[in-house]
Amino acid sequence: MELMDVIRNRRAVRDFTDAGIDRATIEHLIGAAILAPSAMNLQPWAFAVLLGRERIESYAKRAKEWLLASLSQTSYDPSIRHMLEDPQFALFHHAPALVIVLAKSSGTQAAEDCCLAAENLMLAARNEGLGSCWIGFARPWLDLAATKTELKLPEHYHVVAPIILGHPKVWPDSHGRKPAEIHWLR
Ligand SMILES: Cc1cc2nc3c(=O)[nH]c(=O)nc-3n(C[C@H](O)[C@H](O)[C@H](O)COP(=O)(O)O)c2cc1C
Repeated sequence: MELMDVIRNRRAVRDFTDAGIDRATIEHLIGAAILAPSAMNLQPWAFAVLLGRERIESYAKRAKEWLLASLSQTSYDPSIRHMLEDPQFALFHHAPALVIVLAKSSGTQAAEDCCLAAENLMLAARNEGLGSCWIGFARPWLDLAATKTELKLPEHYHVVAPIILGHPKVWPDSHGRKPAEIHWLR
């Protein structure tokens, strides 16, 4: 696809077919992620990959339970409680693959670098016909020291972008965008 078509046609996808994603495809997407620019070219990112619906689902349940119990200690709007309490609400939307973009340092711009890598990954996924969705709700639980220890991730790494991937059942319509607010500075 042309670059602008990829950018225009990427969507947050939350409904996937049963098809899985293989390692080679994930490696290809991560290959695109690491082409992102980074401050002082430090490339402060790492990627944790979880494949398989059942495993991802078990983490989704635990992350959701933790979020419900800890909501008041987070900066999320309390109104999301209603959504989280719905037993049908699956935090990772039953996706077959999860890629977590991690910042390897708390350097001042490491998080920004990782966000750029995450966007590259999502655009590369769209180019391959795969749907993606950044799952911010999962970040606080994934970033707990206990969770990182269980996942055998270095404790000092910071979770920046949990991104689910899969084959979309349908490509959702665009939510549209507000016109850009532009200040032409003189
Ligand atoms: C930082 C960030 C956090 C997000 N967190 C979630 C989330 O926890 N769950 C979810 O279903 N979508 C999440 N999204 C997806 C957004 O809701 C989605 O990108 C937005 O509605 C615009 O839709 P589009 O991506 O299809 O253009 C997140 C997106 C971003 C950038």
